[in-house]
Amino acid sequence: MGKPISGFSKLSKSKKIDWIVDTYFAQNTNAKNIIKQYWNSNDKLQQLHDEFIENTITNYYLPLGVAPNFLINGKLHTIPMAIEESSVVAAASKAAKFWLDRGGFKTTIISTTKIGQVHFMYSGDFEKLQHFFSQVKPKLISDSKPITKNMEKRGGGILDIELKDKTADIPNYYQLHATFETQDAMGANFINSCLEQFAKTFKTEAKAYADFSDAEKNIDIVMSILSNYVPNCLVRAEVSCPVDDLSDDDKINPRTFAKKFIQAVKIAEVEPYRSVTHNKGIMNGIDAVVLATGNDFRAVEAGVHAYASRNGQYSSLTHASIENDIFRFWIEIPLALGTVGGLTGLHPLVKLSLELLHKPSAKELMGIVSVAGLAQNFGALRSLITTGIQEGHMKMHLMNILNQFEATNSEKEQLIEHFKTQTVSHSAVVDALNILRRVEK
Ligand code: MEV
Repeated sequence: MGKPISGFSKLSKSKKIDWIVDTYFAQNTNAKNIIKQYWNSNDKLQQLHDEFIENTITNYYLPLGVAPNFLINGKLHTIPMAIEESSVVAAASKAAKFWLDRGGFKTTIISTTKIGQVHFMYSGDFEKLQHFFSQVKPKLISDSKPITKNMEKRGGGILDIELKDKTADIPNYYQLHATFETQDAMGANFINSCLEQFAKTFKTEAKAYADFSDAEKNIDIVMSILSNYVPNCLVRAEVSCPVDDLSDDDKINPRTFAKKFIQAVKIAEVEPYRSVTHNKGIMNGIDAVVLATGNDFRAVEAGVHAYASRNGQYSSLTHASIENDIFRFWIEIPLALGTVGGLTGLHPLVKLSLELLHKPSAKELMGIVSVAGLAQNFGALRSLITTGIQEGHMKMHLMNILNQFEATNSEKEQLIEHFKTQTVSHSAVVDALNILRRVEK
């Protein structure tokens, strides 16, 4: 059983590990070995990782794979993907190759603004508050100049600040609702710093505002924070081709394929149980690139799912149509991403991933990430409406099962060959491995 500890964060790394091993692993040295096995032998690199967070004891590896052959707006990309799920990179690569021969992916940035809010309580006359706000607004902006100066040089900054009356939802609740342009930065620190400055100025100025009563002067700031809901930081990615070009083997008639594909998308548009899984598959592609490029996948996830529910019911992020015999498949997705700041200049693999992508601007990265999502969804739907998902999935999972039973390289080779023509299941792999081991004895 665990026990409470105070001052844990002040212990050295090795003392932290000792405490964990003593408390939870009955001093089992194997636990300590596993933890240490993942330390990097390069002390500087290890220290960099140690200092990303508090209480680091080791590193947690994820594979970084690449999916080549993505033609996006006429430019070829190899997309880096950090993900543990076996079939994701293979599915992305396959979809990239499919669309490479059909004109590739086209992306459009629809908008790039982000939101931040100061939430506050005010008990008094709304008209007076409006008056006060219009007087103080220029000062909110000018007091933030030390924060906004550099961002303005890069073409970003505060776009607007509005006063919002939210008293219909909560008595006395109002907001300063601000919009920002953050160019190549994700902008979380920039936005939050601006908001905290707005709050400070707003509160101080209210105290000195002659038209306010004593109660009105006492504005109570609840919190100042950016929103990860970014419906106005939106990108669209699209593929299209004549319906007859949709088949890349003789197994499926392209018209049947197009019809079933559109039915599958329509189902995801109307049926939330399906849309969640449909969008989860999209996020397999999105998160993997977001993570590889050092962006915040939790922020992206939260914003994307809120967007998927914007009309009151959770729905598909992708859509498909056939018009004049042209098949069209597209995604519209909010993505607040950065290619400067945060981890982008710190983590060597993030830097490498961004270099691999030709050092994209944030807008270009929005395009690339949305394409990864669209490609992933195309791959998933193509499997679902033809062979079913398990065929490809289990083929990719084969290696995990073989590793679980500590198969040797030679056993792996033989069984990969064997399962090219056999259905993969956990028990089928175990049986085949046992037979092989008996024969080899
Ligand atoms: C699995 O990670 C993702 C899928 O379930 C997505 C989908 O069903 O569309 C295959």
